[in-house]
Amino acid sequence: MRNILVTGGAGFIGSNFINHILKSRDDWFIVNLDKLTYAGNLENLTEIENNKNYQFVRGDISNRELVNYLFEKYNIDSVINFAAESHVDRSILGSEIFYRTNVIGTTVLLDVAKKFGVEKFLQVSTDEVYGSLGATGLFTENTPVSPNSPYSSSKAGADLAALSYYHTFGAPVTITRCSNNYGPLQFPEKLIPLMIINALHNKKLPVYGDGLNVRDWIYVIDHNRAIELAFEKGKIGEVYNVGASQEMKNIEIVKLILGILGKSDSLIEYVKDRPGHDRRYAIDSSKIQNELSWKPEFKFEQAIVKTVEWYLANKSWWERIIRGDYLKYYENQYGKV
Ligand code: NAD
Ligand code: DAU
Repeated sequence: MRNILVTGGAGFIGSNFINHILKSRDDWFIVNLDKLTYAGNLENLTEIENNKNYQFVRGDISNRELVNYLFEKYNIDSVINFAAESHVDRSILGSEIFYRTNVIGTTVLLDVAKKFGVEKFLQVSTDEVYGSLGATGLFTENTPVSPNSPYSSSKAGADLAALSYYHTFGAPVTITRCSNNYGPLQFPEKLIPLMIINALHNKKLPVYGDGLNVRDWIYVIDHNRAIELAFEKGKIGEVYNVGASQEMKNIEIVKLILGILGKSDSLIEYVKDRPGHDRRYAIDSSKIQNELSWKPEFKFEQAIVKTVEWYLANKSWWERIIRGDYLKYYENQYGKV
């Protein structure tokens, strides 16, 4: 049995990860440490919250005392760090919390993990640390880190801290850098859920700039299978890029969503561009495919339909988020957090 500290497990990717792990295996005990920021939602985990191999703790990864206490109490042997401030637009409006959580928080986890001599520290990172591509080329693990937004620079800072702990102290760090995720439980500030929900309300769909920026999309389940593999089999001190080679222009996605919902393109509104907007991301994932035998299973055309269907079927989930009372709802249903 492994005792694994999973941080940020009430967010989009982390909650999909914990649900997947606890439904598919019984050899991991998971302590989920999550601050429950605006993006953390315990409703995402109701299916597994009574699992004997699961414990939720509300708290901040930068709280050294708490992290120490959890390592001791649960005999933690490994860490998977999802916790982060994750939204680029918010980092442009105010960056401090990004550096506090993403850089300092990760450093606290690394320090405590070093003290307790963990077996593995998996840092969940992003392709955004590489900066922006032109019309051609792909990010490989050898592409220099060159982040452009406060968000991506804070994630790059966390990656560099993690690698420095490997080089200096031999910490058992492995990093995954993934492209844009989509799927169930994504907070409706990100492109895909925001567009689905606006379209359902017949509200305008705000497309930044010329709408021709490109992202490389991956279904969240494929990302989480890559994290599980990199955690178990990834080499220490190595970075693994994760992506499904599904590049799309933003405007193509928005039109696709409108088509699936049977809504008119007249809902599209071109708005002022995001400052410093990265033009194109595209991932070369051959390393994880060749070394760890990972490959993506979901095709964008099918998984985007599944995703839209999930949002249609889970209206009350996102309505509570939009109203801002999802924590109150959770506590009424399941007890005080
Ligand atoms: P999210 O914003 O949906 O969830 C983040 C979670 O972290 C929330 O539950 C939040 O409450 C928690 N959190 C924030 N600050 C915390 C703190 N100080 N202490 C403890 N918990 C804290 O994010 P996501 O989209 O699920 O992303 C998860 C991770 O994956 C992040 O590290 C992100 O950088 C990375 N990533 C995301 C994508 C993507 O497309 N969403 C792609 C590649 C990598
Ligand atoms: O590449 C991985 C990254 O993907 C993750 O590290 C981040 O956590 C995640 O937020 C995501 O970053 P992006 O900035 O690419 O995602 P976002 O959904 O915010 O935007 C996707 C694209 O859509 C981007 O080019 C900006 C554009 N956009 C976004 C919003 C919210 C719009 O045109 N209109 C919008 O309203």
